[in-house]
Amino acid sequence: MAQLLGGLFTSHVPAIGGAIAKGLQQDPYWRPFFDGFAPVHRWLAAARPDTVVMFYNDHGLNFFLDKMPTFAVGAAAAYRNADEGWGLPVQGNVDGDPALSWHVIETLVDHEFDVTTCQEMLVDHAFVVPLQLAWPGGGKPPVKVVPIAINTVQHPLPSPKRCLALGRAVGEAIRSWPGNARVVVFGTGGLSHQLEGERAGFINKAYDLGCLDALGPDPDALARQSALDIVEQAGSQGVELLNWIAARGALGDDIREVTRNYHIPISNTAAATMLFETRALALA
Ligand code: DHB
Ligand code: FE
Repeated sequence: MAQLLGGLFTSHVPAIGGAIAKGLQQDPYWRPFFDGFAPVHRWLAAARPDTVVMFYNDHGLNFFLDKMPTFAVGAAAAYRNADEGWGLPVQGNVDGDPALSWHVIETLVDHEFDVTTCQEMLVDHAFVVPLQLAWPGGGKPPVKVVPIAINTVQHPLPSPKRCLALGRAVGEAIRSWPGNARVVVFGTGGLSHQLEGERAGFINKAYDLGCLDALGPDPDALARQSALDIVEQAGSQGVELLNWIAARGALGDDIREVTRNYHIPISNTAAATMLFETRALALA
């Protein structure tokens, strides 16, 4: 069976992609953020995943406000990045894993999640920046990816409880996948930030640190909030925390925190990185 080795959680601010393009990782503004990835790189080198199941949100590149699935699963052989207008270099195609995608989709539908299936899917900064952070150097990431897009953009948003349950069902799908895939889940976005309106620039450090503390031991505590509670506490884009909650659900309960980093600000965002490993890694 496939092994679910761990989960990487990271902010996905477009400016991070700009800093990578300009080689600014050691610049004083960027260093406290990028340095948080040194233990992540060591862990990935040891864990040798070949597949990433990525919980993220699209920001208007693939889905716009006219058609907005609550949960969408990619089932393509390759995923193409495109210009979103942030001035970032367009990244090369990332390989998909259609067979695993369909297994995830079948498991989710079996669990009564009525997902949208996407055999074509453009992927935005929320997908490509975390891959660039995990595997720096500019090459193609050495993994196949199954993208799972959660609507964090257009209300009504899915509840944190539903996102946690979605992630748990995805975890079941991964663990029941025949073969020897070495899988890591990603949850991207957050933490607190708000890009528009009267509260533009809003950051809530106390709330963020509480979320980081709860994510490992008590994800159900995060899932007892409503999506609007998260908007209030973390900002209208801080609700990207839903992607983290879903990815955390996939990991199950037998996990260990490997590293975390929290740095304010990156652009308008409280930037956070967190990595957990599962017991499967010790046995793999
Ligand atoms: C920023 C953060 C995001 O999560 C995003 O999707 C776009 C921009 C920012 O802080 O600039
Ligand atoms: Fe975002």
